[in-house]
Amino acid sequence: MEKTLFMIKPDATARGLIGELIAAVEREGFVLERLELQRFTREKAEAFYDVHRDKPFFGSLVEYITSGPVVPMVLAGEGVIAAVRELMGATDPAEAASGTIRRKYGESIERNACHGSDSPASAAREIAVVFGES
Ligand code: RTP
Ligand code: MG
Repeated sequence: MEKTLFMIKPDATARGLIGELIAAVEREGFVLERLELQRFTREKAEAFYDVHRDKPFFGSLVEYITSGPVVPMVLAGEGVIAAVRELMGATDPAEAASGTIRRKYGESIERNACHGSDSPASAAREIAVVFGES
């Protein structure tokens, strides 16, 4: 069954949006397989965002994602990756469609409230980084 790694980022946990964002993904009807409150170490953040290592925003992104608690979760179901990406909206909240999480709650292109895997391969890699290999 298809899986995705959805994660509530530090800007959203800091503003008391954990319950709201869990409710938003729950309403999509997928199976919630794992959910934790975590604080990323620098090592974990760099591994998680490894594909962005050469981007100019990498240093800032690692600082941000380690700045407070995150709430990663594994969701499973047919079409879950695309459904969660649609629910989140575009990376930049200013460009995200109305009604999406990032449009409603994102503060900036970096502080955009949530993360969602972009492919099955990314999901498998991210789930391993965040929750371990088992
Ligand atoms: P995500 O991986 O978090 O689900 O978001 P995404 O696919 O829409 O965006 P991606 O291109 O993978 O970028 C990962 C995260 O890096 C931050 N970012 N900052 N300053 C910038 O120009 C910039 N661009 C991206 C965001 O936090 C983005 O979600
Ligand atoms: Mg991405």
